Amino acid sequence: MKDGRSGKSIFRKDYTAYPWDVNHLDLNFDIGRETTIVRSEMAFHLKDQTRSTHDIVLNGSNLQLVSLSLNDCLLSEDEYVIDGETLTIPGAPRKSVLKTEVKIHPQSNSALEGLYVSGAFLLTQCEAQGFRKITWFPDRPDVMTSYRVTMEADQSEFPVMLSNGNQVAQGDLTGGRHWVRWEDPFPKPSYLFAVVAGDLALVEDKFTTQSGRDVALRIYVEAENIDRCEHAMESLVNAMRWDEQRFNLEYDLDIYHIVATNDFNMGAMENKSLNIFNSKYVLARPDTATDADYQGIEGVIGHEYFHNWTGNRVTCRDWFELTLKEGLTVFRDEEFSSDMQSRAVKRIRVVRDLRSRQFPEDDGPMAHPIRPDQYVEINNFYTATVYQKGATIIRMYHTLLGEAGFQKGMKLYFERHDGQAVTCDDFRAAMADANGVDLERFGRWYSQSGTPQVHITDHHDPATGKYTLKLRQHTPATHDQKNKQALVIPFALGLLTANGEELPMQLEGETKASGGTRLLLMEDTNEEFTFINIPEPPVPSLFRDYSAPVKVFYDYTPEQLAVLITFDSDAFVRWDAAQSMAQGAILEQCRRRAKGLEMRLDSSLIKAFEGILSDRMADPALLAEAMILPDEDYLAEQMEVVDVDGIHAARKFIKRALAEKLQALLNERYAELNDGLPYQKTPTAMARRVFKNVCLSYLTETQKGESITAAQLESSDNMTDTLAAMKGLILMDSPQAEAVLADFESRWSEDSLVMDKWFIMQAINPGADTVNKVRELMQHPAFSIQNPNKVRSLIGVFSMLNPTGFHASDGSGYEFHADRVIELDALNPQIAARMASAFNRWKRYDEDRKALIKTQLQRIAAVDGLSGDVSEIINNALR
Ligand code: PHE
Ligand code: ZN
Repeated sequence: MKDGRSGKSIFRKDYTAYPWDVNHLDLNFDIGRETTIVRSEMAFHLKDQTRSTHDIVLNGSNLQLVSLSLNDCLLSEDEYVIDGETLTIPGAPRKSVLKTEVKIHPQSNSALEGLYVSGAFLLTQCEAQGFRKITWFPDRPDVMTSYRVTMEADQSEFPVMLSNGNQVAQGDLTGGRHWVRWEDPFPKPSYLFAVVAGDLALVEDKFTTQSGRDVALRIYVEAENIDRCEHAMESLVNAMRWDEQRFNLEYDLDIYHIVATNDFNMGAMENKSLNIFNSKYVLARPDTATDADYQGIEGVIGHEYFHNWTGNRVTCRDWFELTLKEGLTVFRDEEFSSDMQSRAVKRIRVVRDLRSRQFPEDDGPMAHPIRPDQYVEINNFYTATVYQKGATIIRMYHTLLGEAGFQKGMKLYFERHDGQAVTCDDFRAAMADANGVDLERFGRWYSQSGTPQVHITDHHDPATGKYTLKLRQHTPATHDQKNKQALVIPFALGLLTANGEELPMQLEGETKASGGTRLLLMEDTNEEFTFINIPEPPVPSLFRDYSAPVKVFYDYTPEQLAVLITFDSDAFVRWDAAQSMAQGAILEQCRRRAKGLEMRLDSSLIKAFEGILSDRMADPALLAEAMILPDEDYLAEQMEVVDVDGIHAARKFIKRALAEKLQALLNERYAELNDGLPYQKTPTAMARRVFKNVCLSYLTETQKGESITAAQLESSDNMTDTLAAMKGLILMDSPQAEAVLADFESRWSEDSLVMDKWFIMQAINPGADTVNKVRELMQHPAFSIQNPNKVRSLIGVFSMLNPTGFHASDGSGYEFHADRVIELDALNPQIAARMASAFNRWKRYDEDRKALIKTQLQRIAAVDGLSGDVSEIINNALR
């Protein structure tokens, strides 16, 4: 196995505490691109008072060991044992000072974990287990240590040298060299360690905390990006203020640094006071970044900032507990975005994302509970399940306890655990104890994988005016768990009349009725709720605001859906009803097509969309969400055997037919929204733009579409409108498309982030030929297989967002993709594993495609020296 990792599963139940306290770590970096020398000094104290000696076990990977000494005695090779990634010093005395010197090689580090090079600077990435690529250390989150870091390097090549905490000293050295020392007063786990060294420009601002302390805010970027940091800075200030106001949490140091890099495996990293960001989540200017990019930046800047309390001050006992910090911090960033923008729109986007990314995970070969019980490679568990489903579990506490109760729980959590490495059970106990409630059964959400289904039937008795809802929950078996238990499911309900009025609700046995939304609770497999004084059969508005992460089954008639779409007070339910109606229509046409019947457009869908389009009261961003048809992958999830081409054709048919029927209205709304005002960043302007561009995407399906689209491109002063128009021209196969792409290319060829968009637009283009285009684009000077953003934009988008390309019936997409997985595995196993997961749903396709994919999976599995990352994904897929 590469990097000396074992390739074997490790289990949550096997946790044992580290026997030593490591209170202090002194690190010295002699920085060079080719070779960096790392010297460390660590103080070990045995926790167990009754013993005089114990083994010291350290982790290390790819380190060139120069020397190792214990209490100032150099150890010879027979005085310690290196086995894979561990180094053991047997029988060390209860007070031990260890000194090590190692050499590492940043320039040749293509895995982007540990210390590596990005453009004009060097940087580190340590979560989850990257610190062991920097030096020998107990690289586990429950070992919390104070760090002092000294760096020295050539002054002109590395003018800026940063680490966590405060800069405490600096000086010049001979030969044009200099040194800097940093100290972090907060003990932290090694995964939060960071250094950055190189030639970086800086943007500065200041934040005064609620208690009156000034915090220096600095964003470091490569010099040419200095004019693109404003939005990130504004987002940071907003996040800091919001966390004080909503959670009463204040920042705890005098400096907050953000560094943007083009070379990053993930979105961003919450290193204590030295966040490192994928430049995608920092850099923005109206002409280079879309509204979605702006919103992404706000969300991720918030996310990393919020980790300072939920993750850094209170961290995870081990990596099985990852959702303790991630689920909670995603919940916090969702709330931040909801408070900054539109709560309803944010909720809808979150649910769309959960359904299209997390549900397939729950139903696939890598299904795992939000707190997994075992893993081979922890990097494979930074998943939508741990993050997004994890956040829905936190949201359910909030739904059950209310804002005040939830905040009481948070307060107790920090009182009990500040400075500790803890578990999800500790969090749940804080919530329970602070509110005096029993959350024992709720804990099952942490240990059960799979998406629960809730099947609902109802009955109205006109004679008695009683209305009964029967709910049955059922979680299908997953590959990792056969038997499932009943879960605690918050069930938010409304009842509407056929005219869309809300009915007051009074359960049998209650003394009075209450209006609005009722929060009910499912605690068992079967639950029944009977309401009295219900004069007519109501339309149930189910799981309002998506009160639990479940699949809901209820047989709505088209009339009932229409009532919800038009009248429901809950924006999520309105949207969901429109989605169900559209989904039903598309899947029906897909079936008709398979039978050789002509496809057709149902009048109820036309009426519903006409209603949405003519709504001039609602937030345009909500209308946009309602108009966006379910995507092809999500539709594929609804079929027993995926009909790749059928789904594409049926979706296209419905979209075009709607566009033709509603052309006049679409034109009218488009014209209203296309107001010619100069670009603005406000939520209102963004909402208008998104609705306008959804209207445009329908109009591109019609005769006049091309001229409208070309006109928008011509007059656009921002990237959102430009990209929407370009996508339109490409999708309609306009003769202008090629020239437009070439224009864009020559304008932005030097701009890495904008070129990502150029790759995406081409990789996503439907059809079996796209694989050739993608292959060709890999030769483009702006593409690099070593750069994760490029890989995601071209290869990831093709394999995961272009079903008719990837699943081309001749298998060319599969073969191409398997080649890339193999190529990437030798460079960057984490990214290779992400790409490999594009094959995860293979068993849901027809026999021919299954056979083609299986061949590719076996070909990957047979590669000599395959990483643990990729083999875990592939072996699970094949099993
Ligand atoms: N902890 C980071 C976040 O969620 C994600 C991350 C994981 C980044 C691993 C890098 C490596 O904010
Ligand atoms: Zn996070």
